[in-house]
Amino acid sequence: MKFGYFDDQNREYVIQTPQTPFPWINYLGNKDFFGLISNTAGGYNFYKDARLRRLTRFRYNNVPVDDGGRYYYIKDGNTVWNPGYKPCKTELDDYECRHGLGYTRITSAKNGVSASLLAFIPLDYNGEINHLTLKNTSMETKHIQLFSLREWCLWDASDDMLNFQRNFSTGQVEVKDSVIYHKTEYRERRNHYAFFSVNAKIDGFDSQLEDFMGMYNGFDAPQAVLAGQATNSVADGWQPCASHQINVTLLPDEEKSFIFVLGYVEVPVEDKWESPHVINKKPALQMIDQFSTDGQVERAFVTLASYWERLLRLYRVEIDDEKTARMVNIWNPYQCMVTFNMSRSASYFESGVGRGLGFRDSSQDLLGFVHQIPERARERILDIASTQFRDGGCYHQYQPLTKKGNNDIGGGFNDDPLWLIAGTAAYIKETGDFSILNEKTPYDSNPKDTGTLLEHLTASFNHVVENKGPHGLPLIGRADWNDCLNLNCHSTEPGQSFQTYGTADGRVAESVLIAGMFVAIGPELVELYRRKGLDSKAREAREEIEKMRKTVLEHGYDGEWFLRAYDAFGEKIGSKECEEGKIFIESQGYCVMAGIGVEDGRALKALNSVRDILECDHGIVIQQPAYQTYHSNLGECSSYPPGYKENAGIFCHNNPWIMIAETKIGRGDRAFDLYRKICPAYREDISDLHRMEPYVYSQMIAGKDAGRMGEAKNSWLTGTAAWNFVAISQAILGIKPEYDGLRVDPCIPSLWGEYKVTRVFREAIYEIHVTNPDNVQKGVRSVTVDGKPIEGNVLPVLEAGTKHIVEVIMG
Ligand code: BGC
Ligand code: NOJ
Repeated sequence: MKFGYFDDQNREYVIQTPQTPFPWINYLGNKDFFGLISNTAGGYNFYKDARLRRLTRFRYNNVPVDDGGRYYYIKDGNTVWNPGYKPCKTELDDYECRHGLGYTRITSAKNGVSASLLAFIPLDYNGEINHLTLKNTSMETKHIQLFSLREWCLWDASDDMLNFQRNFSTGQVEVKDSVIYHKTEYRERRNHYAFFSVNAKIDGFDSQLEDFMGMYNGFDAPQAVLAGQATNSVADGWQPCASHQINVTLLPDEEKSFIFVLGYVEVPVEDKWESPHVINKKPALQMIDQFSTDGQVERAFVTLASYWERLLRLYRVEIDDEKTARMVNIWNPYQCMVTFNMSRSASYFESGVGRGLGFRDSSQDLLGFVHQIPERARERILDIASTQFRDGGCYHQYQPLTKKGNNDIGGGFNDDPLWLIAGTAAYIKETGDFSILNEKTPYDSNPKDTGTLLEHLTASFNHVVENKGPHGLPLIGRADWNDCLNLNCHSTEPGQSFQTYGTADGRVAESVLIAGMFVAIGPELVELYRRKGLDSKAREAREEIEKMRKTVLEHGYDGEWFLRAYDAFGEKIGSKECEEGKIFIESQGYCVMAGIGVEDGRALKALNSVRDILECDHGIVIQQPAYQTYHSNLGECSSYPPGYKENAGIFCHNNPWIMIAETKIGRGDRAFDLYRKICPAYREDISDLHRMEPYVYSQMIAGKDAGRMGEAKNSWLTGTAAWNFVAISQAILGIKPEYDGLRVDPCIPSLWGEYKVTRVFREAIYEIHVTNPDNVQKGVRSVTVDGKPIEGNVLPVLEAGTKHIVEVIMG
């Protein structure tokens, strides 16, 4: 069952009922200022950092889950309704929500009044615009009252929900004309405030939530709205909010529009005050001025649309498969941008306070984003690198505002270092910009202790070489990619963090996944050394990689598949000898991606085992059999109920590793079949089961052992976005950036006859037409560029600004 449809022409998902199986959200904002918005106008805003600069409040695990947001109340006689249905939930005569790229438009109607609410964040603007249009579609004159509502968060979203003995006494605002300014803590140490404005004369306001709401009412029945009169409250502690009252008269057919701006301002310390105790409002008024007319809003909206138009033109497929096309051309790159911006910080499952930017997460997000805005990828790589330690280890997470490593979680996740090499290689292949390797960046954020990026990458590589266990495989540390395989944790008390309790430097537990990564990613560094003329380093590194390949074959293969790990007691994990968790997905994916066992059939066997044991209708589960009991030698994965998350859930992130691995052995039919299984557009028809948004990937789909098999969770912020983009665009459709050009190496279902990819690469446009006359799955018979045959299948780097026709014949 569906709850809407894709409008590919407008690049929107159109939701036709407010009662989706879970709030279906969208992201606003591109660079510094962000908002999350649900299909009922719920959500919140923040500046740069969802924890440290939270502007508006949102309560996770609320009842119902999505209460609080950008609310507008329309009081028309005795009826009060909201354009987004919530919070009053008055039945609407009409409702539609269009989530587009960086904007959401909700239109609805009730009793002869129609409303359209357009929410977006203009490019390079630290504020959210809500353009609200009301129209009288009835025959009579309407006298309605409009109330807006935002609830301020006291900046640090974590303190905001913990420290009430302080918080209830600190809230402060100023109200002037039609603007409500939130200035809590501005008096002492903060140089920033927020504001909520409207471009109309107001008939009242509230800034104290308790006065607006009434002590015993909820969002669905604010006392001021029911009474039809704001109380003009000026917040003094308790819960500050911002609400405008505007009395609107609409003649039949008349339409009026209002521009609300929720903005963020930073003021230089010496200019903080206009007069004693009165904040300097100039910067806010300038921002408000930029959006005081409908024309200004419309222009900014068009600019946003052309920004996306340009980004999406960088990789476009024309293919006789509507669902694949809409994912590749619209939604997958869009989600890649969002994961790049947010890492794992703020979604409807990530509270924004727990995790900032992840070292491994952000490094992988780059893989799907780098072609969009390479300059931002470059900056991110250097930021990530500066949270690395001299010995190659690294902070697992850092805060976007401070760009400093997070001490609560620390380091010791031994896969982290290698992802930096993968991200950097992807950046250089996309841009040809080797100069990034010479950039000096700090270790541990210490500007006095720096090394070039190439030195950082060397440290990453050596961190693996210098931290091997008894079998010569890499030590796992606190965990590798699987944050819940905590082999050195051994926790038996509730409340201990699986990730940080126990010995991070355990010298026994080893990871076959990290070994696979080393063999797959290490050669990138070898190539970078070679190009820098560092031949002996290249040779040494190559020898290390070769050694690791042999070690995996010797100690990391279990007959039918790759082992997953050895635990702290030297026991095998992910082996046929185990009773539960006999086989894991991750090492099958990465070892085959590394090419290990491809020539002697072991890779093929491993992938067949994945198919036979791990796959189900909804994708590939992370391991089998699921853990039925808790194993303290394994950690968090065995703490989840069977079928969920890292205990045999379909962890979508590494399904594309198997897709890519399948293309390594030439099975395009299999690769695409796996692509379809977890692809949200393909799952749209089962939205009632899937529950999450049908336009973006979720981190997890409940696996075959779960009570709710097929139900997704944790949508939006997941490495699944980047990896699926890599799988479909590079491995299946086969257009892959290399240091010296664009490789064309499709691995597709045999039934596909042809498709076309337009790829902008180093600013030249390649129109690549692939035909498959013999119905093969892999193999390129000939390539011509502008009619001339080329040797091999790597398209040369062509002049920026020029356009070229490429004909590829498979066979
Ligand atoms: C989750 C993991 C996540 C980790 C982060 C665990 O509870 O299951 O997916 O990576 O927390 O700390
Ligand atoms: C989510 C985390 O963000 C990611 O870093 C980790 O690899 C996966 N969970 C798997 O545990």
